[in-house]
Amino acid sequence: MLARTHCGDFRVHHIGQTVRLNGWAQTNRDHGGVVFIDVRDRFGLVQVVIHPDDPAVHQIAHGLRQQDVIEVVGEVIARADGTVNTKLPTGGVEVMVTAITVLNRSETPPFMIDDYCDTGEQHRLEYRYLDLRRPKMQNYMALRHRVSHAARSFLDSQNFLEIETPILNKSTPEGARDYLVPSRVYPGSFFALPQSPQIFKQLLMVAGMDRYYQIARCFRDEDLRADRQPEFTQVDIELSFVQQDDVMAVAEGLLRSMFEAGVGIHLPETFPRMTYAEAMDKYGLDRPDVRFGLEHVNITELMKRVEFKVFREPADNGGLVKIMRVPGGSTLSRKQIDEYTKFVSIYGAKGLAWIKVNDVTDLPAGLQSPIVKFLPADILAEMLAACGAETGDLLFFGAGDEKVVNDALGNLRVKVGHDMGLVVEGDHRFVWVVDFPMFAWNSDEKRPEALHHPFTAPYDEDLDKLESDPLNMRSQAYDLVWNGTEIGGGSIRIHNPEVQARVFKALKISDEEAESKFGFLITALKYGAPPHGGLAFGLDRVLSLMAGVDSIRDVIAFPKTQRAADPMSNAPGEVADAQWKELGLRKRRTIQENT
Ligand code: AMO
Ligand code: AMP
Repeated sequence: MLARTHCGDFRVHHIGQTVRLNGWAQTNRDHGGVVFIDVRDRFGLVQVVIHPDDPAVHQIAHGLRQQDVIEVVGEVIARADGTVNTKLPTGGVEVMVTAITVLNRSETPPFMIDDYCDTGEQHRLEYRYLDLRRPKMQNYMALRHRVSHAARSFLDSQNFLEIETPILNKSTPEGARDYLVPSRVYPGSFFALPQSPQIFKQLLMVAGMDRYYQIARCFRDEDLRADRQPEFTQVDIELSFVQQDDVMAVAEGLLRSMFEAGVGIHLPETFPRMTYAEAMDKYGLDRPDVRFGLEHVNITELMKRVEFKVFREPADNGGLVKIMRVPGGSTLSRKQIDEYTKFVSIYGAKGLAWIKVNDVTDLPAGLQSPIVKFLPADILAEMLAACGAETGDLLFFGAGDEKVVNDALGNLRVKVGHDMGLVVEGDHRFVWVVDFPMFAWNSDEKRPEALHHPFTAPYDEDLDKLESDPLNMRSQAYDLVWNGTEIGGGSIRIHNPEVQARVFKALKISDEEAESKFGFLITALKYGAPPHGGLAFGLDRVLSLMAGVDSIRDVIAFPKTQRAADPMSNAPGEVADAQWKELGLRKRRTIQENT
């Protein structure tokens, strides 16, 4: 039997060869008795031609419908002058068919299997196996394969061992809700699916594995967005006897190899670093998009000298007042400013004061604003100088609680940057954000909470603040941010059991709770845990940025919807009464009534 040639592989040097190909009939055109069929497989598309002089073959060809699966034997011939298709890699040739077999029939597909199909995502997910048959989706899957493969090769070359960690676990704290799996053997007890392999990879360091990696599935029951899925994949690494710089250097090499293999882009040797404090100060977010300016300027001190309550009160009471200067923004209409005011209210901002700088040399007459009348001329001059205002600019102001102002102006900055066309297509900016605070204040529970996870090490020189001033401690944690999206994060871990116990205490985790949740890790740290640290990249996010798609769902073969469900299999679904019983579970009456 002839070896199979892939549809996308035919070139002019094959002319004269007899070949066999397999694939799906994409289109079927009859030109006065001569039938042309585009046959497609994963590797591409080729045109095959059936002349009417062989009635048996011709009849089969005529009866072919879109997406029927066929096998074709024929001779590769040159396309006639004027019919060469330069847009198609195989466009110089076609296959003159001598035999054709229908391997399987297809019903009429619910949408066109091509890259121009604009059917809704719900429909695409319901028939994902057809959606994935589209060339674009096939390319994304191939991209995913290449990038994972490159990650494996790179880490292998750096002496890492690929080790699998369990899926049925106790809870790993990464800040999201757990997916739980009831145990049949221990009625009333549950496994948690891993939010990450964090604890196990640390245990592998205690076990002397030195360098671990895993392309690991993680599960988090959290509110979904375009860049979040309930199950997603991390390229997860952990290393012993390292410091931050070592982990970051390996991570840079890893990402570089992934980008080269994925999209042929050569990333720089190292990425710039920015402290968390600077990111919050200038960008209001811990994932700064550094492709454009619109940086914030802090005027809190200055506002202690004004009467205007909106600015004075937060300045006096530990809040924040910031300016965001929009160069050339004075052309924005009132309607646009009103829309931005509505936008910042999503983040809790009570308003969005603004000043249009119509003439910077003429104060205050040259300023147009609802708040200028509340501010003395000398202060106005200082405010304009602080942010470098020029004629034609628009200044936005945020005042209030630090978190609200940063959130509001931080997100406004991103929105205005996009709206004003300041984002250059194809510009890829990576930045490490370092020196995160160790803890954030959880005002609901009135206790500090870990900003990363509770195993992150503080800087040694900050250790003595653990009991006295925990909110002013910095941790040895780092995130890698690409164009405003966090694509990876990690830290140096605590390897000293006493420090770990003190951190749990600072987090108000009781000894009993620590023991029951992480006792095995604390015990392990007592048996010669090496200093260690690591990082995890969100593979789906990295791929979506390489592919230039808006949603990580496009680079996942079988993703869930925004409502965390699968419209194809209808997961999650009901289970039989017998399974409830077997698991020792009982439905609450309210659920029973609804079902
Ligand atoms: P972290 O929680 O920051 O760290 O996760 C690492 C990276 O995983 C990606 N990510 C997600 N991607 C898609 N959907 C989600 N729901 C989702 N959540 C996170 C992000 C993120 O940067 N164990 C630590 C890593 C470490 O300290 O080594 C961890 O999981 O790109
Ligand atoms: P008000 O005194 O509430 O009418 O506000 C006067 C101006 O200040 C309006 O332009 C409001 O949008 C703006 N403003 C009110 N609260 C804030 C705030 N917290 N931050 C920024 N601007 C605000």
